[in-house]
Amino acid sequence: MPAYAMAPARPPHVPAELVFDYDVFEPGPPGSDFYVELYALKHRAPPVFWTPYNGGHWYTTDSDLTEQVLGDNIRFSNQVLQLPRENNPPPGKGYAPMFLDPPDHAAYRHLLLVALSRKAVTDLIPKIRALAVDLIEDMKPRGRCDFITEFAYQLPVITFFGLTNLPERYHDRMKELVRGIVDAHSDKAQLFRDLSDHLASFVDDRIANPGDDLISHLSRQEVNGAPITPEKLRGMTELLLLAGQDTVANTFGFIAAFLAANPEHRRWISNHPERASHAIDELMRRFPVVANGTARLCVAEAELGDARILPGDPILATPTMMNFDDRLYPDPLKVDFERHLANTGSFGRGPHRCVGAGLARAELSIFLEEWLPRIPEFRIAEDSPPRFVPGVTISYDRLMLEWPTA
Ligand code: HEM
Repeated sequence: MPAYAMAPARPPHVPAELVFDYDVFEPGPPGSDFYVELYALKHRAPPVFWTPYNGGHWYTTDSDLTEQVLGDNIRFSNQVLQLPRENNPPPGKGYAPMFLDPPDHAAYRHLLLVALSRKAVTDLIPKIRALAVDLIEDMKPRGRCDFITEFAYQLPVITFFGLTNLPERYHDRMKELVRGIVDAHSDKAQLFRDLSDHLASFVDDRIANPGDDLISHLSRQEVNGAPITPEKLRGMTELLLLAGQDTVANTFGFIAAFLAANPEHRRWISNHPERASHAIDELMRRFPVVANGTARLCVAEAELGDARILPGDPILATPTMMNFDDRLYPDPLKVDFERHLANTGSFGRGPHRCVGAGLARAELSIFLEEWLPRIPEFRIAEDSPPRFVPGVTISYDRLMLEWPTA
């Protein structure tokens, strides 16, 4: 059934002038550039509006209002992160800390913040680099690749193996499951169940036989004076895998496609290695992939611009609308490595801001540092241009790159 067919009537507290028909999973017609469409939406829709699509929900296009929602975990709960709201786990069953609210959220988040700033993550960087070099060297003589499957999805999954010290016997099945989940035509619900089972046996093994890895480290921690439960630990392990897959891989895809089409930007990065991390921030500002994954559920009445949001109302406040703010970033669809960057929304904002940002930025830096010197000239193959795919994260269906071979 199409999402619109399930739409409720306009609730009495929503004024008619704040209703705007918009389906977040159809940001533009097939074949269009979804970022251009999202920027256009920011200008043609009210700063905050209610749409009947996907079960009926609010949406903020104004960056201040977006920030207000993401920064307020008292009125806006993380029980609902995706739309429609039925697509979320039952209250209390979602991954910690992502689906949690105060007071529990901070305690679990702290564990991940500490875990992901551990020396183990720094030690992992040479391994990620070695894998990136292997992948690039392997594809270089071929002069062509599908960047999404051959590179973008390889690096984050291997990063997870390293992060958790996942024994090799789990690797093949894990790669297979992640590949399946990424496939637009797969039975995702079944694959997520299989992934959960597969990881659960690994986590239970770590609880029984702890080592010097991140999962064993987490298994020894306490929350509110009690040991972390196996159920919570399994959820956190899954979250560490899933939160760092699509996000990193799709960001790789957009950055690689942009650089393929813009040789002068490639050269800028090669000529300013000391400013590469600024270039990454600007590219991530221009291509924020988490377009529909930061919904919230209103749990206490809130005034938001012209809208009165009532408990029970879902609302989507998306980083894209912060990154495309003309007041902060004039001509926001332009990639400008010289522009001043305020705190962009790419990794979210407020109490749930991404805890894996450092690791993600390390993966992106490694890509630029290792790809550009080896394959300085590359372009998008004309015979198969990439197409945007809507979803919780925006992605490309494929990215065929080609380059001259010696
Ligand atoms: C380019 C890559 C990435 C992007 C764009 C990204 C984006 C985001 C965003 C927008 C949020 C906020 C969600 C919300 O407000 O509801 C978030 C949260 C989170 N991210 Fe990332 N992320 C990336 C990579 C990673 C990686 C590599 C990891 C871990 C290995 C990770 C782990 C998490 C976790 C655990 C949270 C939840 C934090 C909380 O609820 O307190 N992310 N991410």
